[in-house]
Amino acid sequence: MPDKPVLWLPRRVSDATVARARRDFQVILNEADTPGTAEDIIAMSARVDAMMPCHSEHFTAEVVARLDPRLKIIANHSVGVDHCDLAALAARGIVVTNTPDVLSDATAELAILLMLGAARHAVHGDRLVRSGAWDSWSPSFMVGKQVTGARLGIVGMGRVGRAFAAKARGFDMDIHYFNRTRLTPEQEQGATYHHSLDSLLPKADFLSLHCPATSETENLMNASRIAVLPDGAVLVNSARGALVDEDALLDAITGGKLAAAGLDCFKTEPGGNPAFAAHENIFMLPHIGSATTRTRDAMGFRALDNLDAFFAGNTPRDLV
Ligand code: DGY
Repeated sequence: MPDKPVLWLPRRVSDATVARARRDFQVILNEADTPGTAEDIIAMSARVDAMMPCHSEHFTAEVVARLDPRLKIIANHSVGVDHCDLAALAARGIVVTNTPDVLSDATAELAILLMLGAARHAVHGDRLVRSGAWDSWSPSFMVGKQVTGARLGIVGMGRVGRAFAAKARGFDMDIHYFNRTRLTPEQEQGATYHHSLDSLLPKADFLSLHCPATSETENLMNASRIAVLPDGAVLVNSARGALVDEDALLDAITGGKLAAAGLDCFKTEPGGNPAFAAHENIFMLPHIGSATTRTRDAMGFRALDNLDAFFAGNTPRDLV
């Protein structure tokens, strides 16, 4: 029997994923669970046939140019592939896959949490109660912005955007969206299509971003686009930090243009933006959109399905 292919797992994935990976591959684990550096990736490429990285491992053009020819496939444990220079990898003939579908509900749930938390002063309220500083109540105390029936703008109606819209319908939100292509009426379910972002933004009392980070979407929400949102809008980002100009967001929060923001993604990760910390109307989480037990197993299994297909000589389902 031929030797099993060698697979590197640079991060600590779920136990079920590791167990299944061990069945079919010779697995090299990174017990320390530290992000794989450029030098780690390059060194490991001479020892393995496959890698299952996360968005924390960066396959830049410089890294890809130095990969050993032994490495044949990068089966990402993520739906986002903005950490991979796809053109450089294609030029080296290295196959790249991702894990779509399986994390849509978990990420959409988190976007709902961000939207509600931002709208209803979750950070301020939690601090008051937790610190023992809650010493009064009045009808004008911590009055927030109601989600039910409000206009919701969604940028990017892919799998996560549609899962988010489905959950937002539970709040009777009036859904508007911008997407490169219009959805079918069955998929739209009454949502209003906008052919441009400029048309969508003035309608978005709540705006949620669900598009990938690419050179076209970098700083998509900049000062001029934030300016055309309705006054007091709430911005939600559970996609990628690159989509938002963080200085412009801060100006809009301090100037009162935005009532609040809910963010799971930042330009700098890990770490976030320390300048946001003083603003309790910015509700922040540390990039945990897909972090549920069920979804982590599903992501690992989807990545392994792609690897199994590749090493069986078939085209992986989630070829990027
Ligand atoms: C993804 O899958 O892209 C999530 O952001 C987690 O990496």
